[in-house]
Amino acid sequence: TVITNIASLVTNDPSLGWGSPRSSTFESGGGSPLGLIQDAAVVIEGDRIAWIGETSKAPATDNRVDAGGRAVIPGFVDSHSHLVFAGDRTAEFNARMSGQPYAAGGIRTTVAATRAATDEALEANLTRYLREALRQGTTTFETKSGYGLTVEDEARALRIAAAHTDEVTYLGAHIVSPDYADDPAGYVDLVTGPMLDACAPYARWIDVFCEKGAFDGDQARAILTAGKARGLHPRIHANQLTYGPGVQLAVELDAASADHCTHLTQQDVDALASGDTVATLLPGAEFSTRAEWPDARRLLDAGVTVALSTDCNPGSSFTSSVPFCIALAVRDMGMTPDEALWSATAGGAAALRRTDIGRLTPGARADLALLDAPSHVHLAYRPGVPLVSAVWRRGERVA
Ligand code: NIG
Ligand code: FE
Repeated sequence: TVITNIASLVTNDPSLGWGSPRSSTFESGGGSPLGLIQDAAVVIEGDRIAWIGETSKAPATDNRVDAGGRAVIPGFVDSHSHLVFAGDRTAEFNARMSGQPYAAGGIRTTVAATRAATDEALEANLTRYLREALRQGTTTFETKSGYGLTVEDEARALRIAAAHTDEVTYLGAHIVSPDYADDPAGYVDLVTGPMLDACAPYARWIDVFCEKGAFDGDQARAILTAGKARGLHPRIHANQLTYGPGVQLAVELDAASADHCTHLTQQDVDALASGDTVATLLPGAEFSTRAEWPDARRLLDAGVTVALSTDCNPGSSFTSSVPFCIALAVRDMGMTPDEALWSATAGGAAALRRTDIGRLTPGARADLALLDAPSHVHLAYRPGVPLVSAVWRRGERVA
């Protein structure tokens, strides 16, 4: 397939770009990290990008798609979602919008519904949200367990997830299981013992919700260290609702990502800037819990790598739309449209420690989206408008 007449192509390869509208932050670091190419063409061979260049130099082919002066971007890499669940929490959302605060305890509602659901129902629900995300340009997603909280229910969630993505995260430590309400230490033993044994074969990552009302810093360290010893790589729900030890623990353990990062001290920011841990911001959660926004500008100015993802889950962020998160990040978190696009593609890839996705360069995976717009800036400029008009994943047209 050759896609031609692309008005603006985001490659995320700074060495490829020219004539790009650069943001001031990006400019100070040299060329735009977006590697924008105008009047561009992309050649796809099999599941990979084979060639990128100007339309006038594109090879002839029978299988030609004319982008007609629209934009092409790398498919979104949604590095944080919770999609194996049943039921929804409409009543809780309604209550929140009339003034009730968000509390981690709402997770128990979804745990009960998920435990009661059949494998088929969980699978159907997951597929539905994946389809929804794909239509909005997401070509890679990470997803987690965390609504089972028994050995069988956690392993089942991960088995179902693993049939759809390589980026599977064991989150047995989402909250202390209601079955262990009086014995949190016993639950940590379960999560680091028999549950880890049952779950590790399906997962690449281990996660913990390090927060008041969930797990403290010592418990989180024990859980992630046990996971590491089983070959899982850590990532953390850190500093979402309150200040706490999560972000610094993430950096200490070389977690791929510290997720949420809403309440940060200067030491937290300094720690992130000094390590390889990505700060993943999830504005859908602040939107849906009416919480204060994470300060993306502060992180970017400190040199932290920022990813932007949905956190799609029925409690705190029931959106599968990365474009919606981009619009929020630009409007309310101090990101430029260029930075938000980078964070939702290359940033997500960094948060999954992947180099084969999140960019459109020869050899990279042919995961891309065609927008009904002349540039990626319209994702924030025209919020709420379905601008993703076609999606290719592994070289195949899927939406
Ligand atoms: O990332 N923070 C913990 N977990 C989810 C919320 C899950 C829920 O409320 O069901 C989150 O926001
Ligand atoms: Fe989450």
